[in-house]
Amino acid sequence: MNIAIGNDHVAYDMKLSIKEYLENLGHTVRDYGTHDTNRTDYPIYGEAVAMAVAAKEVDCGILICGTGVGISLAANKVKGIRAVVCSEPYTAKLSKEHNNTNILAFGARVVGLDLAKMIVEQWLSAEFEGERHAKRVDMIMDIENK
Ligand code: RB5
Repeated sequence: MNIAIGNDHVAYDMKLSIKEYLENLGHTVRDYGTHDTNRTDYPIYGEAVAMAVAAKEVDCGILICGTGVGISLAANKVKGIRAVVCSEPYTAKLSKEHNNTNILAFGARVVGLDLAKMIVEQWLSAEFEGERHAKRVDMIMDIENK
C-alpha cells in the first residue's frame, strides 16, 4: 500500500519507528512531516495527510501527535476524510470494518511502540464490510454536503 504519514514534534521519534515498521512490511510511505523535534503545529500535518488521502494520492493515512486528538480533528475537517483516534487494536479494526476509516491516528504520549504497531497492523489488515455499514457511512459523508 501507499501510505501517507504525518506527525507533530511530540511524535517525531514514534513516526520514525512506525515508518520503518511499515516499510519492513513492504509498504511505501510518503512522509508529510514534521521532520524534526522543533515545536510546530499539528494541524499542518493533519491537513497535509488528509488532502493526500482525499485526493487519492495514497491509499490511506496515519497521523501521530501527543494524543492523536488534535491531528485527527484537523484531518476530519477535510472533505472525504474519516479519521479515527485509537489507543487499542480492537477499535482500530472495527473502525475499518464498520466505519471505513481512511486515516488512523494515535498518541505518542498515550501508547507505546509495541501497542502502536499492533494498532497499525489491525487497522491495515481489516477490510470494510459494506452492506448495512455502507448506508451509515454514506449518512456520515452526506453531512458534509449540508
Ligand atoms: C502538543 O503539545 C500536543 O498538544 C499535541 O501533540 C497533541 O497532543 C494535540 O492534540
